[in-house]
Amino acid sequence: MSVSDSLLIRAARRETVERTPVWFMRQAGRVLPEYRAIRKDLTLMEIARRPELCAEVTLQPVQRFGVDAAILFADIMHPLVGVGVDLEIVDAVGPVIRRPVRSGSEVNALRPLTAEIDLPFVLDTIRILKKELGGKIPLIGFAGAPFTLASYLIEGKASRDFVKTKTMMHSAPELWHDLMDRLTDIVISYLMAQRSAGADVLQLFDSWVGCLSPTDYATNVEPYCKRIFEALNASDTPLIHFGVNTATLLSLMKDDGAGVIGVDWRIPLDDAWDIIGHDKAIQGNLDPAILCCSAEAIEREVRDVLRRAGGRPGHIFNLGHGLLPDIPVDAVQRVVDLVHEVSTVGTADGSLGAGARR
Ligand code: CP3
Repeated sequence: MSVSDSLLIRAARRETVERTPVWFMRQAGRVLPEYRAIRKDLTLMEIARRPELCAEVTLQPVQRFGVDAAILFADIMHPLVGVGVDLEIVDAVGPVIRRPVRSGSEVNALRPLTAEIDLPFVLDTIRILKKELGGKIPLIGFAGAPFTLASYLIEGKASRDFVKTKTMMHSAPELWHDLMDRLTDIVISYLMAQRSAGADVLQLFDSWVGCLSPTDYATNVEPYCKRIFEALNASDTPLIHFGVNTATLLSLMKDDGAGVIGVDWRIPLDDAWDIIGHDKAIQGNLDPAILCCSAEAIEREVRDVLRRAGGRPGHIFNLGHGLLPDIPVDAVQRVVDLVHEVSTVGTADGSLGAGARR
């Protein structure tokens, strides 16, 4: 069996599958006691710098839950660490940049990334994982998108209103485009290196892009996303474009070059699919908070997402955003089992499985 026969890759190509593939953003992490045990003594970056350990953490959710993909254990800030940005990932806060990037000299200081030299541990982790996964389960590599990375660099940390980011975008457009251009080059070389090392699928996380109007997205962000997907589309590696709060941006994102669009729960999956078009695959979109609710609520909502997918080819089940730290491990397992059971072709309840048109 080769990885191109896996459910995830076939679904990404909109081929008919026996059942819907499922994985979770942030599946490796605090939800797992075996992760917390490792994390007790080491930071995220310390784990990342030890490829054997980092591969082990990446595999934990695959082994425990039986999800249909592994996602490289890393953070979106890794390539920025690689080019020497001084940052810390603070518990319960996220990335914090010691000297935010707001002037020409700070943008100028952002140098290109050579992943083999700057982040060899990431590529070593991928090589280990490829062996461990044995061509059965695909490995998802990823990068943060230029806008989301720029927002951390400019704001210095997570932001509610993105005022400093939008100030640069609108008051210093040349500086903005220079920054986005440099980040785009970094993201492209990072993703290409992950692919060369063996990543089977690549996801671009534009987590915070939903704070933008469609016009701002089209003018100030979209050209860079297009450039990234264009650079990567030369091979047949499936590409996933994900953002949060993107209901008003989907009609643009659908043309940016990714074959799979990741959507959050604020828009019903079928409505989102109608917007992006059925010539694209879709990933999503259970509200992560549902995993903190009753077993009945979880079952109802999982079935609702699958019903909206309607058994059409090209659905990858995921949450609308990452697993939350409070989610019980049992709830994660319940979702995996439900998706596998409910979407299987010819299941006992008589429903049609994934890939069977209703
Ligand atoms: O399992 C996986 O999904 C792979 C690992 C992964 C991490 N970060 C590890 C991590 C992935 C895919 C990311 C992406 C990431 N990081 C994004 C995009 C996805 C999203 O959530 O929108 C963003 C915006 C970041 C930035 C970031 N890093 C945030 C907001 C946080 C959370 C802060 C907190 O503690 O709540 C981090 C830290 C981080 N990244 C942790 C992990 C496992 C937590 C540190 C820990 O508990 O070990």
